[in-house]
Amino acid sequence: MDVYVNEEELSGYPGKRIKRMSLGKSSESIYDNPMIHSLEPDRIGPARSVAGDVRKGSRRAAVVCLLCLLLMIGLITLSCLFSKGNTEWKMKMAQLQTSYKNLTKEQDQLQTSYNNLVEERDQLQSSYNFLNEAQVQLHKGAADMTKKIQDLQTKLQEHYPQHGWTYFSGSLYYISSTEKTWEESRLDCQQRGADLVIINSKEEQDFVRRFQKLLWIGLTDRETEGTWKWVDGTLLTTSYWAPREPNGHIFHRHEDCAEIQNYKAEKSWNDISCYGKKFWICEKTLPP
Ligand code: BGC
Ligand code: CA
Repeated sequence: MDVYVNEEELSGYPGKRIKRMSLGKSSESIYDNPMIHSLEPDRIGPARSVAGDVRKGSRRAAVVCLLCLLLMIGLITLSCLFSKGNTEWKMKMAQLQTSYKNLTKEQDQLQTSYNNLVEERDQLQSSYNFLNEAQVQLHKGAADMTKKIQDLQTKLQEHYPQHGWTYFSGSLYYISSTEKTWEESRLDCQQRGADLVIINSKEEQDFVRRFQKLLWIGLTDRETEGTWKWVDGTLLTTSYWAPREPNGHIFHRHEDCAEIQNYKAEKSWNDISCYGKKFWICEKTLPP
């Protein structure tokens, strides 16, 4: 009778193959074989222990398989998580790079604005400095001017203490209190170091009208009828003749001297006979 015994199980050493044992006689009890001895019916306890070991081994293998499965699930989960994290990280990186580019662009724009503002500030500073300097010069000029006026007034009081002289725009003017012919009037002015007034601006014309008198002025056409000249020999250019004046040549009335007649109007001059008696106005030009 042949009996197969798993030596591995019996010996407790894994890897040992099943041995075949031959039983000499059929009557021979299989339990006489020491290898099978442990399977003897009266020793049923230890045989059961081997089966238990087999079950334990199976359970261990199952546990190991389960652990392997869990490990694999864990690894797959980790791999998925890592992949997801990696994608998110890449997206974040892309966003950060875009933000960085935008910020860099913004920074460049701000830098340009800053440079422009600095340039503008410098220009304003230059303008301010220039205006400041101009203001200083202006104040200085005004102060100089005030001093000149005061000096002039002092000088005028020293040289022309008597009443009757008035200062206007670089000249002194004398208004007579008596009436004379044009020629006598001119002589009086010359005796005062002056001459009959020469009117060469609108301002001067307005100034002369302010006295509200009929006055001889330094204008005549005695030399040549119709050619009006000032007492300094210059030809009349800008005139303030009243309407329809001068008219002496029209009626052959020998109206060869000029007067301020209608002083209320800007155009107030009239040509009239030089032999009438009128007030007069002298002008003395002051040296600059
Ligand atoms: C005329 C003047 C003239 C004057 C002579 C006036 O009526 O308008 O042109 O010179 O008379 O007295
Ligand atoms: Ca006239």
